[in-house]
Amino acid sequence: MNARRVTFASKIGVIAAAAGSAVGLGNIWRFPSQTADGGGAIFILVYIGCILFFGIPLMVSEFVIGRSSRANTAGAFHKLSPGTPWKWVGRLGVLTGFIILGFYMVVCGWTLDYLMQSVTGNLQGIEDFSSNFTSLLCNPLRQILWMILFAFLTAFFILSGVKKGIEQSAKIMMPMLFLLLIILAVRAIMLDGASGGLTFLFKPNLDHVKPTVFLDAMGQAFFSLSIGMGCMITYGSYFDNRINFTRTAMQVATLDTLVAILAGIIIFPAAFALTANPATIVDELVAGGPGLLFITIPELFNQMHASSLWASLFFFLLALAAITSTISLMEVVTVYLHEEYNLSRRKSTLLVTAGVMILGVISSLSSSFFNILDISSAKFMLPIGGLFISLFVGWHLDQKLVYAELTNQGTIKIAIGFLKIYTFLLRFIVPPAIVAIFIYGLMA
Ligand code: TRP
Repeated sequence: MNARRVTFASKIGVIAAAAGSAVGLGNIWRFPSQTADGGGAIFILVYIGCILFFGIPLMVSEFVIGRSSRANTAGAFHKLSPGTPWKWVGRLGVLTGFIILGFYMVVCGWTLDYLMQSVTGNLQGIEDFSSNFTSLLCNPLRQILWMILFAFLTAFFILSGVKKGIEQSAKIMMPMLFLLLIILAVRAIMLDGASGGLTFLFKPNLDHVKPTVFLDAMGQAFFSLSIGMGCMITYGSYFDNRINFTRTAMQVATLDTLVAILAGIIIFPAAFALTANPATIVDELVAGGPGLLFITIPELFNQMHASSLWASLFFFLLALAAITSTISLMEVVTVYLHEEYNLSRRKSTLLVTAGVMILGVISSLSSSFFNILDISSAKFMLPIGGLFISLFVGWHLDQKLVYAELTNQGTIKIAIGFLKIYTFLLRFIVPPAIVAIFIYGLMA
């Protein structure tokens, strides 16, 4: 093991950091709006299939690449396969991370804005939550200032070092968020008329299916699990040799999926219960697009006692969930510059922060730019990255090394059985399925 590199301090720290990366705005902001758009239960079924068949094997693959190379995302491919074009997969990943940050940071800014609105009590008693959100969207300066603040906060954590910054924050805050989501879900289900939302979420209705549902669900699965760009390669490079990859990936995927579905159980029942015109609610949800979270959740709080308090707590924890994700994204790009270009960690961080702010400013000014970054990263770059990662680990990498990493040098007996399924999926299922979904989604 390379002595220069730090590792995460404990097992629980590993899970917290990986889950902290996975659980973020993707679960609570993006998942509900994608689910609305994708027709509810059908989307969720396809989504869960993608998590099981692509998500877990690919997360394990990224861990394998990361820990066996102990390098940044691009350096890892270079180290494991010197002198080959595979390093471009890593470079594509770094670019993808940068692009995701370019729109994600804007949504992070929205959460800070809503946190402020909650703390000051301004969110209380608003009549029209939809126009409240639109007024934020129509105010680029307000969005930009919050986005810049969030980018600086992320940079601060990156500079304070891997162990202290990432691990500590994730360990405390993730469980708190989880608890609050459960409370909110119970509250939402108790509203009159909430059952329509649950039906939409859990009872497949073929009337709402769109042909792009596979591509959309696959993109969401990659995005939500933080896979396909090497985020888990970089985190895997900090894992010590005792970490059980299979178990970690399953735990992270389970937590991540639970949080996304919980978010759905909050937002859809609330939206169905609180709407004035139930007949058109599905169309409204689709039209609401990225605003869903910022419109429906405040509406739900408005139904509760001590609404400002709940709202403040929620947006605070949401911002924390978001920052453990932006940290993971920024870490990938930063450590790439740091290790590949011999820049100091400090300089790399500042450079990345400045770059992200530039993209963030453009995303704040133009919703089409925002959407281009969102769609190109989630639906194209991540699945392409995932495709090459599966080919790399399934076909290219020395299978003895994969065996050693997956079973921790043969010490995890159960992983030996799992290895068969895993290699089969990586070789014969994941690559053709990604390609098929792509072609089908693009033709639809
Ligand atoms: N998964 C995070 C979320 O759901 C976002 C994220 C962090 C991410 N790192 C990533 C997405 C790497 C794709 C790739 O909010």
